[in-house]
Amino acid sequence: MNINNIAVIGSGVMGRGIAYVSAVGGYKTTLVDINAEALEGARRDIDGIFRKGVERNKISETDASDANDRLLYSSSMEEAVMQADLVIEAVPEKLEIKQQVFETLEEHAREHCFFATNTSTMSPTEIGSFTKRAEKTIAMHFFNPVQKMPLVEIIRGLETSDETVEVAKTVAERMGKETVIVNEFPGFVTSRISALVGNEAFYMLQEGVGTPEEIDRAIKLGLNYPMGPFELGDLVGLDTRLNNLTYLHETLGEKYRPCPLLVKYVKAGRLGKKTGKGVYDYSEQRDVVR
Ligand SMILES: NC(=O)c1ccc[n+]([C@@H]2O[C@H](COP(=O)([O-])OP(=O)(O)OC[C@H]3O[C@@H](n4cnc5c(N)ncnc54)[C@H](O)[C@@H]3O)[C@@H](O)[C@H]2O)c1
Repeated sequence: MNINNIAVIGSGVMGRGIAYVSAVGGYKTTLVDINAEALEGARRDIDGIFRKGVERNKISETDASDANDRLLYSSSMEEAVMQADLVIEAVPEKLEIKQQVFETLEEHAREHCFFATNTSTMSPTEIGSFTKRAEKTIAMHFFNPVQKMPLVEIIRGLETSDETVEVAKTVAERMGKETVIVNEFPGFVTSRISALVGNEAFYMLQEGVGTPEEIDRAIKLGLNYPMGPFELGDLVGLDTRLNNLTYLHETLGEKYRPCPLLVKYVKAGRLGKKTGKGVYDYSEQRDVVR
């Protein structure tokens, strides 16, 4: 199956990165959001990624300009999906939101169109059940920041066909990514470990074991992690981290119970880089492009 046209649903932290690698990979790409402000922020962020890419000789000016020409921004999911051969969903990690999106996708997508979800934790089998094409539904789990991180974790649901796995793998590779293909279980490989580490760091902060800086430094220098758990949490978004933990707590049990301090940060609106403040304060930071 030839994929030419990709619709990315949700232009937040992940959707904008996925749209960027999709356009650079040669796909006509439409980035969709219901929130006009988010869509405008995505356009600014993506322009910044192109600009930095050219400055740092990661992409030529011509390639950047051609890729930018392949990118459209839209507030109409229906219109974008009608043109698409593959849809990649990146809306918040809430099952009811994903259900509503996939039911709308099913209504408007052409018969041959494949559906991928960028969920961090949830079941592509369940998400496939919201459609009439479970065999064409799969999880493509990208990592943040998408333009830098080399992996796409591909998770097949119970009904996912071999053709769909092949499409996801081919598309990810054309976007410049490596893939691993795993079987479905909550949190897959990466989120299951990452959520646990991030949550434990919050427990340490709550217990007064150290300051965020000290804990991050210890993990980076002692365990050779490229980022500390709080730096990563602020990049991922603490609301997203909490949604992941809540789902893993429901499905995998007690060891994933979200730390009360994390819940408190989210209630305060301290969601990380995207709101200017999470565990750390970014309000002075002018250059938000990663
Ligand atoms: N943040 C990360 O580091 C990360 C990493 C891997 C996977 N994920 C997963 O990717 C998905 C998106 O996460 P995110 O961090 O980008 O979230 P986000 O909150 O930054 O962005 C979500 C976007 O979806 C939009 N949206 C909500 N409902 C919509 C709808 N019905 N139609 C169109 N747009 C809609 C919102 O306006 C928002 O702009 C989640 O499933 C998350 O678990 C996140």
